[in-house]
Amino acid sequence: MMNVAIVGTGYVGLISGVCLAEVGHRVHCVDLNPKIVNNLNLAIPTIYEKGLPELLKKVVSSGNFSATNSLDLALEEADIVLIAVGTPSKDGAIDLSAIKTVCQSVGEYIKNSEKHISVVLKSTVIPSTTDTVVRNELEKFSGKTLGDFGLGMNPEFLREGNAIEDFCSPDRIIFGYEDEKTLSRLAELYKPWDVEKLEMNTRSAELLKYANNTVLATQISIINELANVSSALGGIDFEDVVKGLHLDKRWSPLDESGNRIFPEILTYLRPGCGFGGSCFPKDVQALRSQGETLGLEMAISNAVLSTNDQQPFSLVNILAKRLGGLSGKKILVLGLSFKPETDDVRESPAIKIVHGLIKENARVSAHDPIAVSNFIEEFGETASRINFCEDWRSAVESASIVVIITPWAEYLDLKNISMKDKIVFDTRAYFKKSDLEVLSYLTFGSS
Ligand SMILES: NC(=O)c1ccc[n+]([C@@H]2O[C@H](COP(=O)([O-])OP(=O)(O)OC[C@H]3O[C@@H](n4cnc5c(N)ncnc54)[C@H](O)[C@@H]3O)[C@@H](O)[C@H]2O)c1
Repeated sequence: MMNVAIVGTGYVGLISGVCLAEVGHRVHCVDLNPKIVNNLNLAIPTIYEKGLPELLKKVVSSGNFSATNSLDLALEEADIVLIAVGTPSKDGAIDLSAIKTVCQSVGEYIKNSEKHISVVLKSTVIPSTTDTVVRNELEKFSGKTLGDFGLGMNPEFLREGNAIEDFCSPDRIIFGYEDEKTLSRLAELYKPWDVEKLEMNTRSAELLKYANNTVLATQISIINELANVSSALGGIDFEDVVKGLHLDKRWSPLDESGNRIFPEILTYLRPGCGFGGSCFPKDVQALRSQGETLGLEMAISNAVLSTNDQQPFSLVNILAKRLGGLSGKKILVLGLSFKPETDDVRESPAIKIVHGLIKENARVSAHDPIAVSNFIEEFGETASRINFCEDWRSAVESASIVVIITPWAEYLDLKNISMKDKIVFDTRAYFKKSDLEVLSYLTFGSS
């Protein structure tokens, strides 16, 4: 059992906290936001995540998990502190201000403490952040040097919507470290996990996280670019193209009995309205910015981002072209979160799509099972022009166009609703054309 402090109790910090508490560590989560701290201590989840209510209740009542707004209090007991604050994009570059603020406070704590503590980043940061920015801040504010404290980088790969399962059964765990003591603490922390564990220096761990996200983002943009060629040219069934592409044995190998294995990676090779969420867009931007600072062209990152930026608007253009304008058209948007099973709307393609539809003077209704309040907050003033509905099935009746953005399971019920007089734009190709009774069925890549 270890004593762990986690700073930043958002998606990553909270899920890490409850999962580490569940295996027996004593976890103190720290957040600036008093509402988060109060709710967590009452075992009230502050984010939507499958399995979180039950797990949080369990670890709070076991006494292994608590939240506080006092970093010093959490550090008092900790052998290791995980930093999981946000690292957003600011003018296309990574904003490390929250990381620096935390490092300054941790540095001040180290200054007045006799004990050795390992400071480990869980936030996604550009390569060299831990061994330069973080190290410098800690040394400056503690007056001590690396060795008096430890330094590590343990990137997180969980996916919102599946976060607890991803944290409990990760593909691998990365131990980025700058000193042996931190390496052994990381090994102790993750001892209950029986998965491959890779040891490397902190720069490599940092780049690995970007490698993971940027390669997936690249797959999404290239398939979207191919879909756009298909749409523009016409006469192509892009579903057939995708099917044929996936059947290359290098993508979908055969198992010993000769059956196809369709790995999950293929879901990143399907056309859609582009990648969103709190990670992919900002991470590709951050890497591009770092590369440019280093004098590199970063041509692929640029192309990936520019295709992705345009993709939501291409939906608006396709609809406007087909209907000769969208003014006054009743359009129902189904799904606002950036993917199903989460209430996170950060960089959700729905934001750009709805802005685009409003700009064309369409009459927009929208539904999401859980993300409406986050969407209103993120969308800005013109949210008042959207009619948010709870009963999406009745809203389908009064719409002339239905745009499916987030493939929530409940929308599968569209199969049972007659939409003979409606155009359906299925941005994720969630359905097969034959599943739905519609006037016209559109996907990215169709014409
Ligand atoms: N969300 C994901 O799916 C995911 C997955 C892998 C990695 N990451 C990375 O993890 C990091 C955190 O992401 P997130 O989505 O959990 O962020 P988030 O915005 O959900 O949470 C960050 C939390 O940190 C708190 N905070 C900010 N400054 C603080 C300070 N000085 N002291 C204490 N608390 C402070 C905020 O109040 C907030 O609750 C980012 O670097 C992100 O790129 C995120």
